Amino acid sequence: MADSNVFVESQTNDTRRRRVPAPCAMVIFGASGDLTERKLVPALYYLFRAGLIPEGFLVIGCAKTPYTDEAFREKMRNGVRKYLNLPEGDYGNLDEFLKKLYYISNDFATCEAYSELRERLNQIDTGHGTGGNRLFYLATPPSVFPGTVACLGAAGFAQPEEDGKCWTRIVIEKPFGRDLASARELNRIVTNVFKEDQIYRIDHYLGKETVQNLLVFRFGNGIFEPFWNRRYIDHVQIAVAEHIGVENRASYYEEAGLVRDMIQNHALSLLSLVTMEPPAIFDATAVRDEKAKLMRAIRPLPLDRLNDYAVRGQYVEGWSDDQRLPAYRAEPKVSPQSITETFAALKLFIDNWRWADVPFYLRSGKRLAKRISEITVRFRRAPHLLFKGTGLKSIEPNRLSIHIQPDEGMSLMFNAKIPGTTMQIRPVTMNFHYDEAFGHAPPSTAYETLLLDCMLGDSMLFTRDDFVELAWELLTPVLNRWHEDGRKGLSFYEAGTWGPPEADAFMERDGRAWQEF
Ligand code: BG6
Repeated sequence: MADSNVFVESQTNDTRRRRVPAPCAMVIFGASGDLTERKLVPALYYLFRAGLIPEGFLVIGCAKTPYTDEAFREKMRNGVRKYLNLPEGDYGNLDEFLKKLYYISNDFATCEAYSELRERLNQIDTGHGTGGNRLFYLATPPSVFPGTVACLGAAGFAQPEEDGKCWTRIVIEKPFGRDLASARELNRIVTNVFKEDQIYRIDHYLGKETVQNLLVFRFGNGIFEPFWNRRYIDHVQIAVAEHIGVENRASYYEEAGLVRDMIQNHALSLLSLVTMEPPAIFDATAVRDEKAKLMRAIRPLPLDRLNDYAVRGQYVEGWSDDQRLPAYRAEPKVSPQSITETFAALKLFIDNWRWADVPFYLRSGKRLAKRISEITVRFRRAPHLLFKGTGLKSIEPNRLSIHIQPDEGMSLMFNAKIPGTTMQIRPVTMNFHYDEAFGHAPPSTAYETLLLDCMLGDSMLFTRDDFVELAWELLTPVLNRWHEDGRKGLSFYEAGTWGPPEADAFMERDGRAWQEF
């Protein structure tokens, strides 16, 4: 039977071959918002330039804000130029791409709006030949997700794929719920309307090239897995640091905070890829089974000693070079008494044979000293200090750094003898950089891979219902406790620094230090 997901170049699942998806229409709800302009449409244009968008393709942007098709295309033209940031001569076919974009202004919180969507889709579909395949993308505020899903169901837009005929899929942006109960409820609502294999819960970190490479690094090489365990690894740090502040997203962020925004999804996804067991085969079910298994093994945080395991902070006024950075509480639309955390550090343990007693330190924040996402694996020290006679008091433990962004790559730090007649030792690094090895850095937004995958029907890099719920199960008690404690226990840090002093003290108590960048 022909694969209805793949249009031309390959009829197989051979991932070495360029796979161009079958024709389809993509409907974006919340299309007047930031995400569409910054990430989604630039990523689609990136795919278009690479010849990975099928001939039969169109986008319908849906939102309340009134735009004509032309005005929407202009807005998207600016977005593509600004956020894809290609060399000036590389936008040759942008006009051709923009002709595939349309816009409907209506109140999609009411189910009546969906008949207009149906009519418009039917009209435009014929011209573009999308063959009836539909991809719905929820880029709206999360409060609107349940209503949109229910209206899509009521309007008959949710039919599952049958016998390789048309497909319908739905992509749901984060945050998926705001705690365990709301995530379960949202899963219930969505799975009432769509089947699990039609649902794509997106976490854009999983589309980053370096994140995907974690699996290849671990399971495509024979030499690393033997020491990827408690016998050789002292601890692991996962840092997802941002230099930007809350920008113009305060109304969302005030409700969410750092843990819901970055840890529940991005940081835990990274943790699961670094620590999961090897799947027996490379497919969506096997990989996602292992990730869920890992999540089940994370030890709940002890609420009676939470300060030993978690730190939360908020930025106050600070400086970056000679630019003054405002305090979080002084940002537009933020309450002057806000207790929302903009920084968090957590210590987690994974109770299984591989990782027993190895601490995993997760750290993320807004308005930190620089933008960097990195996983640092600290190995145990050499067991015997052979070079005592050289005056050396201790020897640096080996360190593997996985640079997720910027400067994608990896480096391994080890000790070497300084050349010369004396015996002196100092750390050196062995480096792999994407641009040096492959001649170019990976694509810029991570959405390219994910949008292509969901058009192809490959859900491996999307989050399954069990993972989402397990992540909330771990974090909801902590968030509840912080909520009860209110201002008590919230630390402060100057914008442009590496977080509150309490976060350093937290590491020092364990005789360790945060990796410096
Ligand atoms: C998003 C968060 O998921 O990730 C934002 O909502 C954050 O607050 C962004 O800025 C960071 O993504 P990236 O790819 O720039 O690291």
